[in-house]
Amino acid sequence: MGKLWITLIILLALGLVVAGGVGGHHVSTQNDFCITCHAYEKVSWDHGSHPQVDCLACHTKGFFTDKIQGARKVYLMFSGQVNPHHDAPSQTHPEKISENCSACHLSDDIRENDPDFYREHTEIMAGGRYTCLTCHGDNGHDPALQALRFKAPRYTQ
Ligand code: HEC
Ligand code: HEC
Ligand code: HEC
Ligand code: HEC
Repeated sequence: MGKLWITLIILLALGLVVAGGVGGHHVSTQNDFCITCHAYEKVSWDHGSHPQVDCLACHTKGFFTDKIQGARKVYLMFSGQVNPHHDAPSQTHPEKISENCSACHLSDDIRENDPDFYREHTEIMAGGRYTCLTCHGDNGHDPALQALRFKAPRYTQ
């Protein structure tokens, strides 16, 4: 790959990080931004059990990690190393997602209004044997639609 390309990619990645500090943050947290690279996830999310919940509500790993990961992903994609419309991600973060699920489903509000559910689930989660995804892995994306990604004719060789 030519030097110009590498320079462009680095500039783009830096731009993303810097923009994150000044107003770009708003744009980059939008669902629309995510789905430019995650088309299948958009559809499986639309038809999943949480279409009303933003991507980042489940997927954030904290502001700074999100920015660094974002820059890394832009680099991986534009240097042709990964195609997110086809390749499975090299890493997933079930513990982080699980914390994000808990922020809604095991909130103080739920503790007050649905004490039985709260108690049961707090007991299940104690000891760190499970993440929410152990038993509710399909939440967020419809699994059948999500699986279509690996059957897409355009990308199967
Ligand atoms: C420029 C393209 C691009 C954009 C925009 C993008 N992603 Fe990604 N995403 C990728 C790539 C490439 C990977 C695979 C990275 C790897 O294999 O390590 C990935 C992986 C992921 C993963 C799985 C790995 C992990 O971090 O848990 C999640 C979840 C994810 N993206 C969510 C999002 C969300 C939410 C947004 C919007 C805030 C977003 N992505 C925006 C390209 C993008
Ligand atoms: C209700 C929570 C929730 C919402 C909302 C959500 N996701 Fe997910 N997402 C998940 C879960 C759970 C997984 C599976 C993670 C695992 O298996 O470790 C996942 C997996 C992913 C992956 C990895 C796919 C793979 O093949 O492993 C990507 C990329 C992703 N989501 C992007 C998005 C984008 C983009 C949005 C918004 C359009 C979104 N998600 C909305 C919960 C959610
Ligand atoms: C932003 C808040 C929010 C987040 C984050 C969130 N949920 Fe939900 N979830 C809701 C709301 C709102 C509903 C629909 C109303 C209800 O039943 O409480 C719901 C419904 C559900 C249901 C019942 C719907 C069904 O499938 O029958 C389950 C189970 C569930 N969520 C699990 C999860 C899991 C697992 C995660 C993490 C991957 C998660 N949620 C993340 C807000 C959230
Ligand atoms: C060991 C398995 C297990 C784990 C781990 C688990 N759950 Fe559950 N969850 C269940 C079972 C079983 C039910 C009852 C199923 C039913 O009645 O639909 C349930 C019910 C729920 C419901 C209510 C569903 C409805 O239809 O109203 C929500 C919301 C939920 N769980 C969220 C979570 C979240 C968030 C986590 C992580 C903090 C989690 N669960 C971890 C097994 C589990």
